[in-house]
Amino acid sequence: GAPVEVDISKLEPGQLIRVDWRGQPVWVVNRTQAALDELKAVEDQLKDPASDEPQQPEFAKNQYRSLKPEILVAVGLCTHLGCSPTYLPDTFGEQVSGVKSGFFCPCHGSKFDMAGRVFQNVPAGLNLVIPPYTFVDDTTILVG
Ligand code: FES
Repeated sequence: GAPVEVDISKLEPGQLIRVDWRGQPVWVVNRTQAALDELKAVEDQLKDPASDEPQQPEFAKNQYRSLKPEILVAVGLCTHLGCSPTYLPDTFGEQVSGVKSGFFCPCHGSKFDMAGRVFQNVPAGLNLVIPPYTFVDDTTILVG
């Protein structure tokens, strides 16, 4: 599959856009400062907070899991059985107390933080997949 160019010039803080890459949904999210602050707050509730798993880009092995802190790029498929989790920018706290935003999989209840890191006590075992990508310029991402 060919790489996919994503224009993020109009991506507002808190907004998610979805593109198709190799037949998979890829999310690009402009994380707010509040969402970035929550990445630290949830670490003791996660299975793999430092994202040590090997099958992902080297730059994803930290709390942001991204090239730029504010921009998350992730494959939007649950690592349990592949459903597409729902982005809850304001109501994730109904699933995980003390956290405002995250991703909730409606199929079997897996929960992921705003870096796609999986919470404890859910069926999914791995963090969301981070695809290879680069910044062509400040407002253009090339996925693939
Ligand atoms: Fe997401 Fe099972 S597919 S929890």
